[in-house]
Amino acid sequence: MKTLQQLIYSNRRWAEWISARDPNFFQKLADQQNPQYLWIGCSDSRVPANEIVGLMPGELFVHRNVANVVVHTDLNCLSVIQYAVDVLKVTDIIIVGHYRCGGVKSALMREKQGLIDNWLRHVQDVMVKHERILAKIEGFTEKWDRLCELNVVEQVLNVCQTTVLQEAWERRQDVTVHGWVYGIEDGLVHDLGFSVTNQEELTAAYRNAISEERQKVVWE
Ligand code: CO
Repeated sequence: MKTLQQLIYSNRRWAEWISARDPNFFQKLADQQNPQYLWIGCSDSRVPANEIVGLMPGELFVHRNVANVVVHTDLNCLSVIQYAVDVLKVTDIIIVGHYRCGGVKSALMREKQGLIDNWLRHVQDVMVKHERILAKIEGFTEKWDRLCELNVVEQVLNVCQTTVLQEAWERRQDVTVHGWVYGIEDGLVHDLGFSVTNQEELTAAYRNAISEERQKVVWE
């Protein structure tokens, strides 16, 4: 276990390392940030946003919560999305779930862990919505992984249905919403193939993302 003092020491070495490569790096960032992407991911310590996709400070706008859920009335997440789209003008919003997500597992097993159960109720809603798909999967791990994917699909849909995206698309702003799942066990990002660029293609893209054929493709 590292002490807090060790963390501060590590920070000093990290800042020196960056500055050695680019002496003006931090000064340039102090003036403004200009990220192209918004990452909405899980709080899980094994899924550090910037590291996974090799992006430096200033390149990724990030929102994380347990089980990467986008709730229609969550002012925190909505504000992040609104600022990213309207002010920073990001071109891509990526919902990044991950396999072996503890939050998704708790929802699947209906575990009792306190206040968090209320938050994970949103994942249980996803589970109920896709009961038919999940019922056909026998192994627990396979079912768990599939729920991780379906949860991402539903959160992509939720982002697309926010007033922020609806209005951005109405004025023909270039912003695409994507669904990815990160593999804890291999360090690789998997694109679910559910990317939405405008309102017109949303329904068909969603249907494709949850179709039976899609399910087979994922597991082959
Ligand atoms: Co997780």
